[in-house]
Amino acid sequence: MCGIVAYIGSKPAYPILINGLKRLEYRGYDSAGIALLDKNISTYKRKGKVSDLEAFVEDKNTNGFIGIGHTRWATHGAPNDVNAHPHVSQHGHFVIIHNGIIENYGRLKKRLEDRGYKFQSETDTEVLSNLIEYIYLKGNVSAEIAVRLALTKVIGAYGLVIMCKDEPDKLIAARKGSPLVIGIGKEEYYLASDATPIVEYTKSVIYLNENDIAIIKKDELSLKSLTNEKLTPEIHTLDLDVDEIEKGGYEHYMLKEIFEQPRSILDTFRGRVVPDMSAIHLGGLLEVLPRLKEAKRIIIIGCGTSWHAGLVGEYLLEDLARIPVEVEYASEFRYRNPIINKDDVIIAISQSGETADTLAAIQLAKENGAMVLGICNVVGSSIPRLTDGGVYTHAGPEIGVASTKAFTAQVTVLTMMAILLGRERNIISDENYKKLILELVSIPEKIEKILTYSAVFEKIAALYKNANNFLYLGRGYFFPVALEGALKLKEISYIHAEGYPAAEMKHGPIALIDEKMPIVVIAAKDKSYEKVVSNIQEVKARKGIVIAIVTEGDTIIKEMADHVLEIPYTHEALGPLLAVIPLQLLSYYIAVMRGCNVDQPRNLAKSVTVE
Ligand code: M6R
Repeated sequence: MCGIVAYIGSKPAYPILINGLKRLEYRGYDSAGIALLDKNISTYKRKGKVSDLEAFVEDKNTNGFIGIGHTRWATHGAPNDVNAHPHVSQHGHFVIIHNGIIENYGRLKKRLEDRGYKFQSETDTEVLSNLIEYIYLKGNVSAEIAVRLALTKVIGAYGLVIMCKDEPDKLIAARKGSPLVIGIGKEEYYLASDATPIVEYTKSVIYLNENDIAIIKKDELSLKSLTNEKLTPEIHTLDLDVDEIEKGGYEHYMLKEIFEQPRSILDTFRGRVVPDMSAIHLGGLLEVLPRLKEAKRIIIIGCGTSWHAGLVGEYLLEDLARIPVEVEYASEFRYRNPIINKDDVIIAISQSGETADTLAAIQLAKENGAMVLGICNVVGSSIPRLTDGGVYTHAGPEIGVASTKAFTAQVTVLTMMAILLGRERNIISDENYKKLILELVSIPEKIEKILTYSAVFEKIAALYKNANNFLYLGRGYFFPVALEGALKLKEISYIHAEGYPAAEMKHGPIALIDEKMPIVVIAAKDKSYEKVVSNIQEVKARKGIVIAIVTEGDTIIKEMADHVLEIPYTHEALGPLLAVIPLQLLSYYIAVMRGCNVDQPRNLAKSVTVE
């Protein structure tokens, strides 16, 4: 949610910033802007995409070896040119980019207005730029001190990069709640919200920690705390390649990421399922395993697609490991005074590792003494740093705003955890343990097969692309998949879609069904198969259009459904990993045919770092 990028060194900053903004555009695309420090500071900003900014800047002066850039997901104030970042302070001493929210900006703004400050924009960020400048001028202090003092007055979250016109040899960066990575080059530094704009220049990075302030000259970096203690930076090596963040010949990132799933699932279990398939080894859980396997209750928290993966986790952990599980929206969990016991284990699921509601829910659980584990994709992000243990998903960078490969990687991790805990708790026999592991290992190949049917999904998409509503039905393990299918369709094609447990249809949604309503039913072979067949008959009796996801060779549903999409047979516990693939592709093709921006759907952003 908002992407920030900055550069200081001996190369022209503009191309680095504009390319960086393109890499970060998935984090927000309401407006984009840059500021370059040459003799003076030149600031250019535009509502809309980075390409709009690029066109606007074409005939302008883009000189300078220091600069900052921002791509915005609007929080305070409409998406327009004025509210776009960077924000310049009233007397032009400071220019800043910000990701996050200053919660007490109203009070700070009032105080500054009382002292003669006038504001151009509706943003909280402009308040911060003016606050820094006010302290700088009034206190006659250095830019660094002004930034530090200003930040002690701020309540909220920020990833910030600041330039001061009077100290043109440095950038000042600070982090609280919103991520910031510094790339180390040879006499140059790169800064960004995540590593994607940095990886093509350097693999050596520093992840800023909470309340860190970095003062960065082209040949020197000094790291301090908000209380001015000197800190030693910890240098990490990025495990990321540039081609992982390119489209690689696909029309959209989402399509690439759907097709990457055989590989991303394999990468997620590689090295964790031991070569003879006889054991699961999750290094990030080793220390916490004794407490985890004795947990009285597991509470899974997440948002959006990660919450759906959590629901699959509930079925898996209760079925295979017999541990009671509750799944909560992180945003609800934190505000409803939940009962958290010391022997509960919390599992936080997040692709980005930065989702504000999930982070806040983790804080709450920790304050109540619960052990918190993370299932995250982005290495070095906030959630893995805050948790007591966990498992990375190894899905690789997910750039499409609609989550696809992150979901299947999360479910893969939850599947491994459930099988492992089932074995540790003596719920699963040796034979079943091996059988489940073998089934898991066969999933990538089965997904490869489903992907070869993509032309079939495309044809069905063409038939129903103009529908106004869709219903998605599933039972048991396939209920969360129905929710996920509906979310995928609505977020990228803007068609209204609802996911329901198939049996709940008769308690209300059946009233919606008519001859225009496509109903996607996940009807793969499992213990509820017969019941789902009855649900399909109920839909057909009301003339609804049935698109059924069935197990290969199914003849019964073929007779009654309007369309069937086949998936290979697997153990029902692994069914979600296969059944979700046709739903992802169906949504993708419908959205493309409706002319929607698949990778950057309206109003959304990839990581939601506001509460
Ligand atoms: O990064 P996270 O997994 O914490 O993100 C959670 C949701 O914001 C995310 O899954 C969202 O629902 C996706 N756009 C769904 O495709």
